[in-house]
Amino acid sequence: MSLLALLMGMAALSTGAPAAPPADHLTPRSNYLERCGGCHGVQGRAFAPTVPDLRDRAGWFLCDATGRDYVARLPNIVFSHLTDADLAGMLNYVAFDLGGTSAPKGAKRYTAAEVAVSRREPLSTTDLESYRTQVVKTLIARCGAPEALASDYAPKLGPKESASR
Ligand code: HEC
Repeated sequence: MSLLALLMGMAALSTGAPAAPPADHLTPRSNYLERCGGCHGVQGRAFAPTVPDLRDRAGWFLCDATGRDYVARLPNIVFSHLTDADLAGMLNYVAFDLGGTSAPKGAKRYTAAEVAVSRREPLSTTDLESYRTQVVKTLIARCGAPEALASDYAPKLGPKESASR
């Protein structure tokens, strides 16, 4: 195979849309477990202090447009090989199921159309931590989110500290 043919083949592979999963066995929960559970934990309790807990708190991000947008544009989420509808379903599972009662009253569920737009503009990875700090500050000040949303997450800690936790 010529190099060009090889490259074209690779391009075709990488632009292929994710195949629609069979509706009967892939659920928002199983999608979460497979793609996110390794970092955020099966129950939404993260294994390392370098990863935020989602349990009983992920819903707070739906309190304002910025928080909502932050979640829907996180690189780990945006690049999931899921259709827009399945991605929206998984985000709703995270916010409303894992998140317990943390979502503010009347918070709207993510829709496929909303996710289709936000995943076109993933957040820049270089300033993710400081961006999150800003987002969370507002959630605490304006929405009454618990201080723990900021203080329990320690992205700067090294592997030593996480091992002793
Ligand atoms: C490699 C580990 C890793 C994987 C895999 C991962 N995340 Fe995360 N996640 C993180 C880290 C680290 C942050 C904090 C990012 C920051 O500092 O802004 C985060 C932030 C979040 C947040 C915002 C919560 C907060 O307190 O900032 C949500 C919601 C979330 N992830 C959901 C998911 C979902 C859903 C998936 C699966 C598609 C996923 N994550 C996959 C590590 C991971």
